[in-house]
Amino acid sequence: MTTPRLITVDGPAGAGKGTLSKRLAAHFGYAHLDTGKLYRAVGLNTLAAGGDPATPVDAIAAAEALDSAAIASGGLQNPELAGDTAASAASKVAAIPEVRQVLLTFQRDFASNPPGSSSGAILDGRDTGTVVCPDAPIKFFITASAEERAKRRHKELLDRGEASIYPRVLADMKERDVRDSTRAIAPLKAADDARTIDTSELDADAVFAAALEFIASLS
Ligand code: C5P
Repeated sequence: MTTPRLITVDGPAGAGKGTLSKRLAAHFGYAHLDTGKLYRAVGLNTLAAGGDPATPVDAIAAAEALDSAAIASGGLQNPELAGDTAASAASKVAAIPEVRQVLLTFQRDFASNPPGSSSGAILDGRDTGTVVCPDAPIKFFITASAEERAKRRHKELLDRGEASIYPRVLADMKERDVRDSTRAIAPLKAADDARTIDTSELDADAVFAAALEFIASLS
């Protein structure tokens, strides 16, 4: 079998694409880029500079100031990136074309030159198989019902000791879905040649097994 060198994994928040991507990366020894973290970093940096994530000049300045070399060597570790403030700011900056353009270059560089000694790359996000790497040989679209995704997110927050109210988590999830799916540029959607896996009724092991089976079927 020819070892795949590029895998894209797209889908809405909380569907399990990050979990699958990390497992595939470990399995194949590929470098993994969580592209959502790039948007989150731009969103948080915009706020840190006193700007508004929905205002293009503010968000573009933050995107241009991202240190891509530091990011490529693992510089997206700030725990605040995982929070809901970052998530909400991210989905606002993500609707600005110039921000997407700056991040596009970074993501394509990562895909064509994965850092370290990795023999391939896995990118996960919203548009990695449609816009960033449309020629990727292996693409997944990982989805689940909004209710199931909100349930997982709610549990994750409670497990972390954070306050969480399920109806609010569900409402935020749906609001972000609408913003991501309806924006004019690079909206969230499955690539025509992506394998869709609905994880509503599957655990992480079953999703991983289904993904490996699909990859094996391509060789
Ligand atoms: O995946 P994550 O929840 O970290 O993404 C945060 C936000 O960043 C998403 O809601 C989306 O608006 C944006 N994003 C994007 N394109 C990507 C990855 C993330 O627009 N490839």
